[in-house]
Amino acid sequence: MSQITPHSGAIPRTAAVIPAAGQGLRLGGGTPKALRELGGTPILVHAVRAMACARSVSLVVVVAPADGVGKTRSLLEEHPPPPGVTQLVVPGGTTRQESVRLGLAALPEDVEVVLVHDAARPLVPVATVDAVVDAVRGGAPAVVPALPVTDTVKQIAPPAAPGEPEPVVGTPDRALLRAVQTPQGFDHATLAAAHAAHAAGDDATDCAGLVERQGVPVVLVPGHEEAFKITRPLDLVLAEAVLARRRPAP
Ligand code: C5P
Repeated sequence: MSQITPHSGAIPRTAAVIPAAGQGLRLGGGTPKALRELGGTPILVHAVRAMACARSVSLVVVVAPADGVGKTRSLLEEHPPPPGVTQLVVPGGTTRQESVRLGLAALPEDVEVVLVHDAARPLVPVATVDAVVDAVRGGAPAVVPALPVTDTVKQIAPPAAPGEPEPVVGTPDRALLRAVQTPQGFDHATLAAAHAAHAAGDDATDCAGLVERQGVPVVLVPGHEEAFKITRPLDLVLAEAVLARRRPAP
């Protein structure tokens, strides 16, 4: 696999890896987060569609909980992808990073651009996905959609004892902070090398963080407010409202 050179002629093959093996405990409700429904359709199916509908994606690899692979396969069979797109389900690991690594291991060698997209961001607009792919195809090895931070953020130190107040140690300049989203897009070889170099011990919360540690430049493209991550119960309410707004008026 060679790094993508801009304007190299042939259209690079693009695949998406969707880590969906988390339990989603903060959402409550018992059912794994990816299987909770939005507008009557499981969150995971929305996320797969968001990737499969992007211009260039021809393969979607879903990383399911190890004990839920069969159930996830059946679910996706009930919701087939658009023509020309293949979907695969592989078992995940105990951390997001491990799940992504297992998803990457399922990709064929000829894939040149890889998107890594959280199942928990089901409503990312297709234009955002296309913008990430275009930036990687344009020669950037790692591309992340991001939004300015609206809250002021405090850095803390661990409390002196459990239950004690957390001491604030700093207030980073908000103008220089960005909240990052997915899909994050990568040159396949760059992402595979970053995961191989950090295979043990780390638990990176995003893939770009691993790539940064390799000294590879990471660039941002504009994210989208509808690409928010469903984490807490209120996020489900917001997601239902976004879907309702998207539905054509009767
Ligand atoms: O926990 P967090 O919200 O950061 O998880 C982001 C994504 O990573 C979710 O889509 C979740 O299903 C996935 N994940 C995973 N394997 C894990 C933990 C999280 O695929 N062991």
